[in-house]
Amino acid sequence: MNWQSDIIKNLSWAGTITNRAGKQKVADQIVSKIKDGDVIGVGSGSTVYITLFTIAERIKAEKLNILAIPTSIEISMACSKLGIPLTSLYEHKPNWCFDGADEVDPHKSLIKGRGGALFKEKLLISSSPLNYIIVDDTKLVDKLGSKFPVPVEVFPTALLHVEDALKALGATEIALRLAGGKDGPVITENGNLLLDVKFHEIDKDMERKIKAITGVIESGLFINYNIEVLVAANEG
Ligand code: A5P
Repeated sequence: MNWQSDIIKNLSWAGTITNRAGKQKVADQIVSKIKDGDVIGVGSGSTVYITLFTIAERIKAEKLNILAIPTSIEISMACSKLGIPLTSLYEHKPNWCFDGADEVDPHKSLIKGRGGALFKEKLLISSSPLNYIIVDDTKLVDKLGSKFPVPVEVFPTALLHVEDALKALGATEIALRLAGGKDGPVITENGNLLLDVKFHEIDKDMERKIKAITGVIESGLFINYNIEVLVAANEG
């Protein structure tokens, strides 16, 4: 039986997608990697969202059996809208994964989490033997933290303890992320809060040190992960 509803069918990306042409180019590179039978971990964000449309076209044209493991409600709904079948980490380990990023440094370390999906994104990337990060060249930085703060997902009642501990790690600015479509703070899909944290210096141990704070669920730092970065030129 089918729902009599247009909600999923009518969903679109909330906001403007910048550099669509560049993002489409990296999307095409991802789609060319798909093999029949793949279980694919799907990150979040606008670059991933664009890629799903091209994946859906290939599935339809070639009648491929593909399963996707989503990292957010936004991406689950987009897969449902496009007819891309879903699975979960209970049923499958991904063959490979693709995701966007907010910053990429010359060592392929990342800041992620603008969209708030950092915990599941890190879980998928950690579970997958092969990972592609798709970005346009505006995301490339010499030093992590140059353009974006580090998102930190925090268990709600640990908020002020975590703030203290982040200051002790050298945080220079700490902001509670506020919601756009509701009053008050963003509540993540895991029921937690998000802090956006600036540091003067992010060393290679910073991810581990942040994660060691009681009350921190995860940070958006991805230092030395097993990833391949695909970069598209920014075409405006
Ligand atoms: C989602 O939480 C983020 O980690 C995204 O992967 C990142 O913000 C990239 O998003 P865009 O593809 O929209 O730039």
